[in-house]
Amino acid sequence: MKHPSMDRAISKFFLHLHPKKIEPKAILFTRTFGLGGIAALLFVILFITGMLLRFAYVPSGVGAYDSIVRLQDELIFGRMLRNFHYWSAMLLVVVSFLHLVRVFYSQAIYFQRRKNWLYGLLLMFLVVSSNFTGYLLPWDQLSFWAVTIMTNMLSYIPFFGNSLANLVRGSKVVDEQTLLRFYNFHTGVLPLLMVFFMSIHFWLVRKARGVTIPSSEKAEKVDTSPHLVYKEVLAALIVVLVLLLFSFFVNAPLLDKAKPLVSPNHSKAPWYFMGFQELLMHIHPAFASFLLPLFVILFFIIIPYVPYHQINEGVWFYSEKGKKITFISAIFTTVFTLLLILIDDLLLDIGGWFSGLPVIFTEGVLPVLCYFVPIGGFIFYVRKKLKADRMELVISSVTIILVAYVVMMLVGSLLRGEGMQLIF
Ligand code: HEM
Repeated sequence: MKHPSMDRAISKFFLHLHPKKIEPKAILFTRTFGLGGIAALLFVILFITGMLLRFAYVPSGVGAYDSIVRLQDELIFGRMLRNFHYWSAMLLVVVSFLHLVRVFYSQAIYFQRRKNWLYGLLLMFLVVSSNFTGYLLPWDQLSFWAVTIMTNMLSYIPFFGNSLANLVRGSKVVDEQTLLRFYNFHTGVLPLLMVFFMSIHFWLVRKARGVTIPSSEKAEKVDTSPHLVYKEVLAALIVVLVLLLFSFFVNAPLLDKAKPLVSPNHSKAPWYFMGFQELLMHIHPAFASFLLPLFVILFFIIIPYVPYHQINEGVWFYSEKGKKITFISAIFTTVFTLLLILIDDLLLDIGGWFSGLPVIFTEGVLPVLCYFVPIGGFIFYVRKKLKADRMELVISSVTIILVAYVVMMLVGSLLRGEGMQLIF
C-alpha cells in the first residue's frame, strides 16, 4: 500500500511545475502526447546515468576506448548502464523534435508563448549538441569519423568556416584535444546550460497558465493532483520500463578503436545530421552547410512574429484546410525530394552541362534552383488554388522543410552503402 505522505510529496513536487487547477482538456493525452514531460524525464535519466558513467570513463585518446570496453565487459551492470544512457540520449533527440512538431502544429507558439518557442529552439540546439559531443567519447571508428565528417562540414562555411571548425575541434583535425573539449562540454557546460534554459522554459509554460487549449474547449477546471499527476507518474514509469527493456536487449554500437589514418569505406555523420550529409552530395557545401541551414533557422525564429490575420490557439493544424494543406505538402515533398535524389544520383549531371562555369553556379545556384523553383510553384498553387491564408502558407512551408529533412536523413542513413552509393 502506498504511504499517504509519499502521495503528498509527489503531488507537491509536480505542483511546482503545474498550476493547482487545470482545464480537463489539457490533461488529454492527445493534447501534448506527454512529449515535453518525457523530454524532461529523459534529461533526468541522462544526468543520473551520465554521472555514474563518469566513474568508469577515462577522457584521453589512450584510455577512452579501453575504459568503455572495460565498462561493458568487466563492471557489473556496466553494459546496461551504457546502453541505458545511449538509448535515452537518442530518444531525447527524437522526442524533442516531435515536441517541436507538436507545439508548432497545435498553434501553441503564439502570443505569450512566442518566447518559449525561441527558448525551445535553443533547447533543441543544446539537445543535439549534447548528443553530438557525447557521440565522440567512445573514441571508436564510428564516432571518430562521424565527428571528423561533421566538423569538416563546418569548414565549408565561407569566411570563418575554418576558424569555427578549429574552434570546435580545439585542433586542425579531430584528436585528443577534441576529445577533451567534447568531454568538458558534454559533462559540464551543456548540462548546466540545459538546466538553466529548461527552468526558464518550464517557468514560461507556468506563466502562460499551462499548455494551450482551444478557447472552445475551455471548461470548469479540475485539481491538477491527482488528475494530471497520476497520469504523468504512470507515463514516466512506462517510459523508464520500455527503455530499460530495450537497453537490456539492444547494445549501443562500439566498433574498433579509432584509427585516425584509416577511414572506413563509407563514413557517416550521426543519423540526425545525415540530412546535411545527404544534401552535401547534391549541392555545393556553401549552400548545404551554411546558407540553407541559416535560412531555415532564421525562418523558424520569425514564425511566431509574422503578422497573421488569424491565430487559432490550440487548434491542431489551425483549420480543416490547414490539415489538408499539411497532408498535401508532406506527400508532395516526399515524392519530389526522392525523385530529385534519384535523378541527381542516377540520371542527370546537370552541373556537367555547364562545365565551363564557376562551381558555385553549377553545383550551388543551379541545383538550388532545380529544387526551389518547383517548390515555389507548389506554394503558389497552395496560395491560389487552395486559397491559403498566411498562416496556412507558413504551415505548408514548415511541413516542406521538416519532411524534406526527414526524407534526406532517412535516405542518407538507410539507403546509402559502400562509397555512399544508393542501395535498394
Ligand atoms: C529538452 C527539451 C525540452 C523540454 C524538456 C521541454 C519541456 C516542455 C514541457 C514539460 C512543456 C509543457 C508540456 C508539454 O507541452 O508537453 C513544454 C511546452 C512547450 N515547449 Fe518545450 N521542451 C523542450 C524542447 C522544446 C522545443 C525544441 C520547442 C520548440 C522549438 C519547445 C517549445 C515549447 C512550447 C512553445 C511550449 C508551450 C506549449 C503549450 O503551451 O501548449 N520545447 N515544453
